[in-house]
Amino acid sequence: MTRRKESARLFHRSERPPGFVLREHRKGILRGGADFILHCDDVPLPHLAKRYGTPLYVYSATAIRDRLAAFESAFSGVPHTICYSVKANSNVNILRLLARQGCGFDVVSGGELERVLVADRRAARKIVFSGVGKSRDEITAALKAGILLFNVESESELEVLAECAIRLRMIASVALRVNPDVAADTHPYISTGLRKHKFGVPISRARELYAKAAGARSLRVAGVSVHIGSQITDVAPFGEAITRVADLVRDLRSDGHSIESVDTGGGLGIDYQEPGLEFADYVAGYARAVTEPLRGLNVHLLLEPGRSIVGPAGALVTSVIYRKENDGKHFLVVDAAMNDLIRPALYGAYHEIVPVIQSSELAAKKKETVDVVGPICESGDFFARDRELPRVEEGDLLAILDAGAYGMALASNYNTRPRPAEVLVSGKSARLIRRREKVRNLYSEEL
Ligand code: LLP
Repeated sequence: MTRRKESARLFHRSERPPGFVLREHRKGILRGGADFILHCDDVPLPHLAKRYGTPLYVYSATAIRDRLAAFESAFSGVPHTICYSVKANSNVNILRLLARQGCGFDVVSGGELERVLVADRRAARKIVFSGVGKSRDEITAALKAGILLFNVESESELEVLAECAIRLRMIASVALRVNPDVAADTHPYISTGLRKHKFGVPISRARELYAKAAGARSLRVAGVSVHIGSQITDVAPFGEAITRVADLVRDLRSDGHSIESVDTGGGLGIDYQEPGLEFADYVAGYARAVTEPLRGLNVHLLLEPGRSIVGPAGALVTSVIYRKENDGKHFLVVDAAMNDLIRPALYGAYHEIVPVIQSSELAAKKKETVDVVGPICESGDFFARDRELPRVEEGDLLAILDAGAYGMALASNYNTRPRPAEVLVSGKSARLIRRREKVRNLYSEEL
């Protein structure tokens, strides 16, 4: 896989972003020499922080469109549909932006289904429904909406789906999600393709279950699906899993099933640590890994990327509330917390953190090693530990990068903290796409 700096990434002082770029601010709003201000597309982040407050999620529509386009182009040689995984970032405005580009969707709940339908009713026929615990109500809603495919994960679910479809006098298209027993190098909480995980049906039992599905008059066997985990940056395990799936497709066809599609799931990781990859090359490598084993099988590919589409397209902007020193250890207490972005606390995840305004004055100061922490009453409430950062002062803004995926989507109201506002930037324009919650929203359902 080629690993080059993504052309318009941070610190690359490109005049033509997508995404987050430090740009020279010639008017010099700071004392000292040249100043650099972090922009999202063409909009300076301090303007957004002033207008909408912090903590604030900011997304680049340009980056989202570009990343989707890179996927489309990497897979252009094969029939395919990209079904963006809604769980990564489910703001209706982002779903609508993707739907407008012709994207389909992977949903895992009735709630996500409803969001997609609100974003664009016509996207229903491009929805795949995944998940180990679909309820009867959720299945019924998806059947009524006329979705493309159910990725079924157990024998019991197959029975329930068949029953729900009979009740509606409908025929449900199904793929079985198979568990290929392939290891992927990622955090154990987000690895899914091993026998010990709750996901899918063992690939060894697949033929038997496909026979059962084919025997149900309200089901139509349409494909095979697989998903081995998330934040996987080595493409080899994808190739391994799809090789097993390709063998299964051959077996199933020889059993007389018509297998039209293979859903390769999501899981392509992003580089949180390095300044980034040349995304087009990276996706092309992924495309080779998943398409090669399927060559000659004439299947329609379904892809479910989440993080790789929206992750680098978002940042969480936060203000430094206090500087604090405890026995020689330095803390920056910021106004965002683990409830706003839980990835560091939950997975020990790394997110790059940068000052939003960078002056030559700041650059001249000695760097310091700090913990960047939130106001929540847990030691797990941190964004970075022992991180070397330029010295910033109380009131300064920091941007926590690569927060577009599994940031707001996993946010909670812990400590009765309203969730942040969200802003979508496209070129020079910025639009509020979710208002900041108010404390009264948080107890309004309590009796
Ligand atoms: N398809 C299925 C069936 C999935 O379970 C997932 C993610 C995806 C697609 C999308 O995967 P992606 O392309 O985004 O890797 N909260 C964790 C990630 C959990 C992923 C769960 N499933 C995190 O913040 O790293």
